[in-house]
Amino acid sequence: MFQINENYLKLQGSYLFSTIAKKVKAYAENNPDKELIRLGIGDVTLPLAPAVIKALHSAVDEMAVRETFRGYAPDLGYEFLRSAIAQNDFARRGAKIGIDEIFISDGAKSDSGNIGEIFGRENRVAICDPVYPVYLDSNVMDGRAGEYLPESGRYSRVIYMPCTEENDFLPRFPEEAPDMIYLCFPNNPTGMTIPKTELQKWVDYALSVGAVIIYDAAYEAYITEEGIAHTIYECEGADRCAIELRSFSKNAGFTGTRLGYTVVPKNLKCGDVSLNALWARRHGTKFNGAAYIIQRAGEAVYSEEGQRETAEQVAYYMRNAACIREGLEEAGYTVYGGVNAPYIWLKTPGKMTSWEFFDYLLENANVVGTPGSGFGPSGEHFFRMTAFGTYENTKAAIERIKKLSI
Ligand SMILES: Cc1ncc(COP(=O)(O)O)c(C=O)c1O
Repeated sequence: MFQINENYLKLQGSYLFSTIAKKVKAYAENNPDKELIRLGIGDVTLPLAPAVIKALHSAVDEMAVRETFRGYAPDLGYEFLRSAIAQNDFARRGAKIGIDEIFISDGAKSDSGNIGEIFGRENRVAICDPVYPVYLDSNVMDGRAGEYLPESGRYSRVIYMPCTEENDFLPRFPEEAPDMIYLCFPNNPTGMTIPKTELQKWVDYALSVGAVIIYDAAYEAYITEEGIAHTIYECEGADRCAIELRSFSKNAGFTGTRLGYTVVPKNLKCGDVSLNALWARRHGTKFNGAAYIIQRAGEAVYSEEGQRETAEQVAYYMRNAACIREGLEEAGYTVYGGVNAPYIWLKTPGKMTSWEFFDYLLENANVVGTPGSGFGPSGEHFFRMTAFGTYENTKAAIERIKKLSI
């Protein structure tokens, strides 16, 4: 009889967003007259920028002609895209990343879930609490998390780094030294970020304890303040201890188009073994390349028009973020985030649990958000709202919330 990967049985509940979707569907079916506003899932609403659409059309036309048709893409990505990335995302920021350190993929979710494959099962993993659920769940699947402990809502082998009001939502160095550290800044779900000086301390810490940092910079485009690193490689020594995950989803609206990349520097080694070579092997074996037309679309993001148009989209979402933040503050809520990230992290009123507030908001304002506890135990009594809706819906949602009597 075959066996299954029993680690899957240790996963808790269904994925957060499927639970929300089920609840919302049931409510909508029972209340067909109610108009729901969805500010829950972090999906964009603006269409792709004109420069991106133009590149897509032109690449599609190339595929229709024998001379310009392309079959399998190079495993690690087309050079035109990798050099645009190396130049714009790194050299421009003073970080030296070679194109052979950049691996094109279909997005940061797959990369953040798959990266664990090149690491040992015995490694101790440190994650922030609350956290983007993929880091935790993929480590549970890989067998690194230990047993689930229902009393605490935690896994026995995971090192949790609470990010709370008390520490300004910045993780502290854990008491036990981890082997793998997941960091995400600007952060989903808290919407907060880390000053470059503090990030440098994490790099120094990782180097001192021999840990690798898996740094998710999917929201880099939302940084508005000075003194915040746009890439971890702005920090000294990060090329010896950090892998960076990037996505085209939030800076350019590719959530349905799918494109991302991972940086694994050649200087990052475990003894004599280069992690760059391991990831190249994994990528080459299990991934057959992002579509040519999508990589051309990605390249267009770095063109002059592409940069201008996508910056306008980010600014549109950040206007929503300001509307949510200011509106909720006026209504008496305690709110965090929304300055360098498209997420607002609000404290639930009157000691309501996150799910109680979810239900309350759904039923009384017909607004959908995300319960903070779905991102980890320290997210309890918090609630995430996203700035990715339309401006009109965002404004209407805040007006509705302001009318509630709590
Ligand atoms: C922190 C973080 N990383 C990665 C992703 C997924 O990005 P992608 O669409 O590139 O898979 C998300 C999506 O919400 C995210 O919040």
